[in-house]
Amino acid sequence: MVLKSVVTSLLWLASLCVTSAEKKPNIVFLLSDDQDRRLGSMEFMETLQNEMVEKGLEATNHFTTSAQCCPSRVTLLRGQAAHNTNVTHVFSPGGNYEKFMFSGQANDYLPHWMKKAGYRTEYIGKFLNGVNLMNWESPPAGWDHIEYLMEPYQTTPNNVVMSINGEHPLTYHGYHQTDVIRAKALSRLQTLIDGADPFFLFLSPTAPHADDETQTTVPCQRHMDLFPKIAAPRLPNFNPSDGVQSNAGGWIKNIPVMNQGNVTWADSEYRRRVQALQGIDEMLADLLEKLEENNVLDNTYVVFSSDNGYHLGNHRMTAGKATAFIEDTNIPFVVRGPGIPPGSKTSTPSSFIDMAPTFLDIAGVSKEDWPSFLDGRSLLQQWKDPGTKYAGTGDGNSFEVLNIEFWGSNGVFIPNGFSTKNNTYKSLRIVGENVAYLYTHWCYSNEIELYNTVDDPYELQNLALNPDAETKKLLDRLNAMLLVQKSCSTNVCQNPWTVLMANSTLPVVNTLKDAMHSIYDDHFAAFPKVNIVRCLGFQSTADEAPFWPPGAEEYLYENKNSTAALGPSRKFKPIVPENETPQGTKEQRHATLEEIMQSTRKLTADELSKDQEYTIRSSGRSS
Ligand SMILES: *[C@@H]1O[C@H](CO)[C@@H](O)[C@H](O)[C@H]1NC(C)=O
Ligand SMILES: *[C@@H]1O[C@H](CO)[C@@H](O)[C@H](O)[C@H]1NC(C)=O
Ligand SMILES: *[C@@H]1O[C@H](CO)[C@@H](O)[C@H](O)[C@H]1NC(C)=O
Ligand SMILES: *[C@@H]1O[C@H](CO)[C@@H](O)[C@H](O)[C@H]1NC(C)=O
Ligand SMILES: *[C@@H]1O[C@H](CO)[C@@H](O)[C@H](O)[C@H]1NC(C)=O
Repeated sequence: MVLKSVVTSLLWLASLCVTSAEKKPNIVFLLSDDQDRRLGSMEFMETLQNEMVEKGLEATNHFTTSAQCCPSRVTLLRGQAAHNTNVTHVFSPGGNYEKFMFSGQANDYLPHWMKKAGYRTEYIGKFLNGVNLMNWESPPAGWDHIEYLMEPYQTTPNNVVMSINGEHPLTYHGYHQTDVIRAKALSRLQTLIDGADPFFLFLSPTAPHADDETQTTVPCQRHMDLFPKIAAPRLPNFNPSDGVQSNAGGWIKNIPVMNQGNVTWADSEYRRRVQALQGIDEMLADLLEKLEENNVLDNTYVVFSSDNGYHLGNHRMTAGKATAFIEDTNIPFVVRGPGIPPGSKTSTPSSFIDMAPTFLDIAGVSKEDWPSFLDGRSLLQQWKDPGTKYAGTGDGNSFEVLNIEFWGSNGVFIPNGFSTKNNTYKSLRIVGENVAYLYTHWCYSNEIELYNTVDDPYELQNLALNPDAETKKLLDRLNAMLLVQKSCSTNVCQNPWTVLMANSTLPVVNTLKDAMHSIYDDHFAAFPKVNIVRCLGFQSTADEAPFWPPGAEEYLYENKNSTAALGPSRKFKPIVPENETPQGTKEQRHATLEEIMQSTRKLTADELSKDQEYTIRSSGRSS
């Protein structure tokens, strides 16, 4: 008894010492996979609402810069737009993990920088597409400890295969992936809390991503009966009429109407996704509880987000992502932590290029010591003072401008095997207070598409079809801005108006509203038009000229190995037996890592064989 109280006092003293030494804040980043914001999935996550939204900050205009897992994650980890990482897809030649390694970027990204700042860095879950049976033996660099899923078992929640730090992979038969990752996360979190260093813990379960094999989402068994009545929201853009659909750009205008079977499927997928998110919500609850129990919650930034959004029936697309529409690009983003006012919201736009600068800022690394190539800005001040201003103030004049880009086929599920090959586009989103647009330039025929998203939030009235004089003026401005944004880097991304007004004697412009003044008409009309020669599945400067400022394309090559030598990506056939029935039972809700480890076994030589049947992933679905 006495001993116990002595120990308790010592612990208390120790915690005081740590506080007085001002230990740097920890960061726990929980990333779901393919979670929508606009279809309301977050509202079904009770812990997310009660412990994060109510006690932290929600960013309502957080966007992915490329609505697909691998490009989005590399952008987050490198702090660069996809056109600067050139990791633009989930398989070769645009993507993926192999390209990330071969290009040298794996030696110089966020966890390395956090380590330099004194952090212990750990990762659990799905890393990038392309971590697979060919390359698991050398784990992704930068992490002090990493436990990763590998293809072909990366998005198979009922068939979990992982390696710990490059050790012989284990199968976690009898458990659901979300439960395995939760138990691992809790165990590592305790170790990190007990350690001396501040920590950066990145958690990446794959819920609610559809299972790669069955193409449907697989929740934990204990959640399969929840929310029996919910269905995909019937937003005004849900399966619209011919007259409306034909307004859309690119291949989207030609999508046939969804039949009853398609609608029923979208509804059941919506339900399964919300169910699958319950496992993520439980994980979040347990993480917060552990942080609190150990008195470190107040010195930890807990961030919740997803790699890209999702649509279900919007614009007639049954399920998927990869378009520039709001459902695919506006993503969940909630953070709580030191200095963040509880229950606050910010509508100032942000994206994943801003994550690395923000985390470095939290780590106390001063701006001069950040990597020179970061495209974004730190959001820390915005988080702490969410009232912050719109465009034209603060750090650069890019505040209302977002660049969203995509190369190559879109793996969405659309009726009747409809071709989606020409899904190469460059988009701009202007997200101002009273001025907001979605502007897309498509590869095929250089078609353009424009929505006024203040008046038309569901993106149905394409103003580029019959532009009036005022719209034509607007199109000139947007073309010029896209011309800069599609190849921008660092200070050019941050100050696009400055670049557009360089060499001009006209007054300074800081916002689109400023730029609309008629004194600028000739100036903006004189810029060359954005052009895309062919619909390619990867970035090719020859096909994407002109660039602005002239010569901007040179930067795209900097510090990068030519990746032309990389062969096609391989897709392996899963041969590890999957659970006979869906796992994630009620009894497993609090399964500990020790319990789970008892059911693991090493993969056999056959199961690990690199010679097993594979197909070349040159087309098809994206993950
Ligand atoms: C470029 O690729 C070669 C392999 O061909 C590799 O040895 C080298 O380290 C790579 N460069 C960088 C910067 O990673
Ligand atoms: C939509 O229904 C058609 C006809 O039954 C079917 O061929 C197609 O695969 C369905 N598509 C989706 C995405 O459900
Ligand atoms: C895709 O674009 C090419 C031009 O790059 C065009 O020839 C082809 O018809 C387009 N395919 C579809 C299905 O729109
Ligand atoms: C400004 O003018 C100089 C000299 O003519 C030229 O080299 C430069 O490319 C111009 N910059 C921009 C952004 O137009
Ligand atoms: C981007 O990747 C593609 C495909 O590997 C390659 O052809 C292209 O040269 C790369 N572009 C740049 C700018 O590095």
